[in-house]
Amino acid sequence: MTALDLIREKRDGQAHSDAGIQFLVKGATDGTIPDYQLAAWLMAVRLRGMTDAETTALTLAMAASGRQLDLSSIPGRKVDKHSTGGVGDKATLVVAPLVAAAGVPVAKLSGRALGHSGGTLDKLEAIAGFQVDLPVDRFIAQVRRIGIAIAGQTSDMVPADRALYALRDATATVDSVPLIASSVMSKKLAAGADAILLDVKCGRGAFIANVSEAEALAHALVRIGSNAGRQTVAYITDKMLRLAGHPPVELRRLLTDGSALRKLAELITAQDGDPQVVDDPRLLPAAPVQQPVTAPAHGYIARADALEIALAGKALGAGRDRKDATIDLAVGVVLEKKIGDAVKAGEILAVIHARSAEAARNVTDRVAAAFTIARQAQPRALLLRRVTASGVERLDA
Ligand code: URA
Repeated sequence: MTALDLIREKRDGQAHSDAGIQFLVKGATDGTIPDYQLAAWLMAVRLRGMTDAETTALTLAMAASGRQLDLSSIPGRKVDKHSTGGVGDKATLVVAPLVAAAGVPVAKLSGRALGHSGGTLDKLEAIAGFQVDLPVDRFIAQVRRIGIAIAGQTSDMVPADRALYALRDATATVDSVPLIASSVMSKKLAAGADAILLDVKCGRGAFIANVSEAEALAHALVRIGSNAGRQTVAYITDKMLRLAGHPPVELRRLLTDGSALRKLAELITAQDGDPQVVDDPRLLPAAPVQQPVTAPAHGYIARADALEIALAGKALGAGRDRKDATIDLAVGVVLEKKIGDAVKAGEILAVIHARSAEAARNVTDRVAAAFTIARQAQPRALLLRRVTASGVERLDA
């Protein structure tokens, strides 16, 4: 068998055998299949899709491409969460320390920016010194010691996803249910948590634009997790994550009394970052130009097009067009208003952070056009569906 056979097979819409998938994952991991053949195979999968059996085989082969963690020696039920990719999604930075502060151990493998969406690892690397490449033993020891670790794929952990993820980002092959499902679940299975909470983003700015495709992705994620013996729940959301099964009052207390923030500082210290950023965000990289975009009229924000805003961010340098490109961690778009907010004419909707006045000018119209202001407030559901092994529950009805 050769990589060419597999590219041809998938190009022609046929299903791979388990052995074929294992061959491909091994070649992606040890570098024996060159990037151009992997890229062609990824595009064939993006266009032709995969069966459930292929998606499961791909996930298991990717999870087994490095060490798989056994967290059973750490007391308590270990949890993990993952988002399938959205714009401005900072949920992990809040949710993971919050859950850890509530005493639930969090062992999380995150990703970098993918397509037009942001990545938790890139955000964490904006903190001076922060290490995301943790060797397995350090990762486990840290969860045991402080109850939380957030790391990336390494040559030790899910190296196949590390290779394929970077290629997908640079070849327009991100928005594929089997590729997202295998990428997310290989990390979740390898990281060893007992319970997995998935935030399946849906809508403009997400990789999956419509609810029925988001349901297909949620089903694939839950099926893979449940078959692997992990309690897995997926929420299909427009923007936000709600934590299921935890007393909200207690979590609110941990947020407001500073416990979650202290846990974030502890995490940053444990991974060699400067914990002072939690008290002084001015220590984060800053762009020299900050240009506001203002509201043309009174009313309510009816639309803030996440894709347009993300593409403006990417044009400023906050994304990768090539696999080896570096992200400018200082640039981007900070939203001052969100959908449903009341706004007065001239009020600031967003601030563009750019390297130069020209770079800011180049995206100003795009950011301004991303907003629609209506006369009346328009209610909108943030939580759309809850998908478990036993079925789908509508949350927006
Ligand atoms: N997050 C991942 O880890 N992989 C994807 O493909 C999408 C989101």
